[in-house]
Amino acid sequence: MEFEKRILCIGAGYVGGPTMAVIADKCPQYRVELVDINEERIRRWNSEDLPIYEPGLDEIVRRARGRNLFFTTEVATAIEHSDIIFVSVNTPTKAFGQGAGQAADLQYWEKTAYQILKHSHSDKIVVEKSTLPVRTAEAMQRILHSRGTSPRFDVLSNPEFLAEGTAVENLLQPDRVLVGCMNTESGHKACDQLEAIYANWVDRSRIIRTNIWSAELSKLVANAFLAQRISAINSISALCEKTEADVDEVAHSIGLDSRIGKKFLKAGIGFGGSCFKKDILNLVYICRQHGLDEVADFWERVVEINEYQQSRFVANMISEMFNTIAGKSILVLGFAFKADTGDTRESPAAQVCRRLLEEHAQLRLCDPKALENARKELIGVQGVSFHEDPYEAAENVHAVALLTDWQCYRELDYAKVFDRMEKPAFLFDGRNLLDHRRLFEIGFNVYPVGKSPLRQL
Ligand code: UDX
Ligand code: UDX
Repeated sequence: MEFEKRILCIGAGYVGGPTMAVIADKCPQYRVELVDINEERIRRWNSEDLPIYEPGLDEIVRRARGRNLFFTTEVATAIEHSDIIFVSVNTPTKAFGQGAGQAADLQYWEKTAYQILKHSHSDKIVVEKSTLPVRTAEAMQRILHSRGTSPRFDVLSNPEFLAEGTAVENLLQPDRVLVGCMNTESGHKACDQLEAIYANWVDRSRIIRTNIWSAELSKLVANAFLAQRISAINSISALCEKTEADVDEVAHSIGLDSRIGKKFLKAGIGFGGSCFKKDILNLVYICRQHGLDEVADFWERVVEINEYQQSRFVANMISEMFNTIAGKSILVLGFAFKADTGDTRESPAAQVCRRLLEEHAQLRLCDPKALENARKELIGVQGVSFHEDPYEAAENVHAVALLTDWQCYRELDYAKVFDRMEKPAFLFDGRNLLDHRRLFEIGFNVYPVGKSPLRQL
């Protein structure tokens, strides 16, 4: 079959994989290919055991794979045969040299730009999907045109706003699709082509065109604003604990003000995931580069409050359990950075676990989807065991720490858990997920976040 367009995505990760699967599913007239240097990842994309867990993704991949959706490691051929190339390789926080710990590490990005240049023999549209420092497109353009103006490359910024666990839903019904281009005739023509892809299923009114720098910066700012709301409510949770106010009630009350809005006001053990911390630190770094220290300090506090929230949670566990947890067993419910994903990158649960292990606690870890990643992350670490069955894992533990907001943990039989535990039984709800009054009635000492504890006499 002749395809109308040949789309390639370099980087078959949490962003590239679902995004391309949805494009392929919605646009059978295009050939969509994903390429990745990680052979194991590609092998799994081609198998029944996909490398990432996302509700609804299996079905979509199964429908489109082999029809117009393909996964490969053959980067040279894939580039040569494509018209539009999305780049979705990772841009982690730089771990060395100038900007270490804050700046984005752009080595994979730059390498990809040179690869595109090397293997292109016809004009291409290159789309930035990865989150990048503002003005990266300028460097991209310069690399791509370093051998002259033929073939021609148009660089666009099309940041992805999907959240893990709801990736498919977010892709199918995005709040907006943002496309940024250079203000040139060919830039706008390239934009038309990219917008036409999304217009196959997204209403035109939700497709927004901006200048390329605004698009790049908007992605960093969107993540910074979302994270900032979480730190704001978490800072208030500390005050609630001192004043007998209830943080969920406060969040509900302020959220009804339509200017504030009710989303992203859930207090807990803080935000995690591969994006928020990385992107805020990157924003901080860029501000400092431009001499905007006051602005940088403002955003840096968002990350500091997040870390403070985790320290507070652990300190509270220790003090409530008679100032020592050494040698005590703790049932940990959840290791993923949020519900409905197996992803454990920058997971607040992982941070809390590390601190508990420093105190020589013995951890029994449960998670419905993240045990595989947890095992990898904690390889060689003493004092942790991994369990499929939370009831079995509850045998003789001194405390339960709920660290990820999985629905299945709301539905556990806590009376059964309680029966198996040492007494007094402690339960620390790091996500304010559970029915605290009911747990108290069962016999637990209950410690939510930002609410008064319910202690047995
Ligand atoms: C990535 C970026 O981390 C993030 O900044 C951006 O917002 C979106 O893309 P994610 O998809 O979650 O996010 O990253 P990851 O799951 O690590 O996927 C990146 C993939 O790129 C990996 O599979 C990696 O093997 C691949 N890659 C990396 C290449 O194919 N080539 C490279 O040179 C480098
Ligand atoms: C985020 C952005 O939402 C998304 O638009 C962007 O493309 C990538 O980064 P993601 O990290 O997948 O998505 O998940 P998100 O739902 O934003 O949650 C991030 C973290 O914040 C999780 O650890 C979550 O538990 C926490 N969170 C979220 C809270 O603690 N309270 C809230 O009210 C909301």
